Amino acid sequence: MIQVAVMGYGTIGSGVVEVLETNRERIRRKTGHEIAVRYILDLREFPGDPHEALIVHDFSVIEKDEEVGIVVEAMGGVNPAYAFAKACLLAGKHVVTSNKALVAAHGTELLRIAGEKHRNFLFEASVGGGIPIIRPLTQALAGEEILEISGILNGTTNYILTKMDREGQAFEEALTKAQELGYAERNPEADVEGYDTCRKISILTALAAEREVNYEEVSTEGITHITDTDFRYAKELGTSIKLFGSSRMENGRASVFVCPMMIGPDHPLYSVSDVYNAVMVRGNMVGTLMFYGSGAGKLPTASAVAADIMEAACHMEDHIPMGWSDEKQVLSPMKEQRFRYFIRFSGSASEKLPDVEAAFGKVRAAELPGLDEFAVVTGEMTESRYQKLAAAFGDIRQMIRAGEIIC
Ligand code: HSE
Repeated sequence: MIQVAVMGYGTIGSGVVEVLETNRERIRRKTGHEIAVRYILDLREFPGDPHEALIVHDFSVIEKDEEVGIVVEAMGGVNPAYAFAKACLLAGKHVVTSNKALVAAHGTELLRIAGEKHRNFLFEASVGGGIPIIRPLTQALAGEEILEISGILNGTTNYILTKMDREGQAFEEALTKAQELGYAERNPEADVEGYDTCRKISILTALAAEREVNYEEVSTEGITHITDTDFRYAKELGTSIKLFGSSRMENGRASVFVCPMMIGPDHPLYSVSDVYNAVMVRGNMVGTLMFYGSGAGKLPTASAVAADIMEAACHMEDHIPMGWSDEKQVLSPMKEQRFRYFIRFSGSASEKLPDVEAAFGKVRAAELPGLDEFAVVTGEMTESRYQKLAAAFGDIRQMIRAGEIIC
């Protein structure tokens, strides 16, 4: 029998306990081990909960119990998750986490300790919720040179943008609903400002590049400035707006960014809606692959955690090589990235479009009835060129980067 401790009895932690119970027989058959939850660590009391007797409040109980072989970290945030995860690895326990903030900030060190201790630090659930993406990248695609990873990696923002797009809902209304459904982070700023996506694309890039990616160096823009007017234009242009985490690798450098993108129906990520996530991976031999599924929520995320618990259970005495080295990945500056640009100008198109085209070149223009403004989508150019051109116009109301849209 393998004893497991679950740290954090919130949405994910309680989901993990549920998955281990519901699929108990299958898990036993596939791993050859009975997996039993011995402790649940949480600051709170859970009177009447069927697992009330397993609740402990003192981490040292778990750390010191030599019979606990696998620890699930589902607390979220970096503190005290980092200290607890590190202590568990140093105590010779396997650690499984769904916590992208922890993996992005301290993954390099925790992976190194896991290797030194012949244990495993596994984090399938940290990116894409229930979508298998870490293991495909590190195992199934191990022989590929990964050229690009682009994804919709945050369920909360995808849910919000979908509601704004399809139902004209206000941002706050959609966010509240996403929180009620258990998709959002403890602090929703991490979702809506793009920080969560930033950590996830940094983890995927580090896995692909096999080098540490400093997520703080990744250009990150969230969705709080996206308005219903932007979606009205998007509809007029036959497009939608999604929050992208993207990384392109070439000649040893990685171009990584997080920002809202206006994309057309031909883009593989266009039809990814609601809480769903999708990750598009392009390898040098395999071509383009898509991974799609539930990117957040209790049971999908817990399912990915349970798969990692099973992986650890099958390798209790050996370390599965995976992750990245402590060598730093060089990131290209955002100003070198190339995009098209959706730009809203105040004033009338008939007066100003000639000036806009004189600066930006041929554009696709759109107008909405009753508004003293117009919008254009430019051809492709570098970010630094866009900034230089935009600086000459004092009347820009909005800019959203755009993918493939035929001008
Ligand atoms: N808050 C995250 C999301 C949870 O909405 O995608 C899953 O990582």
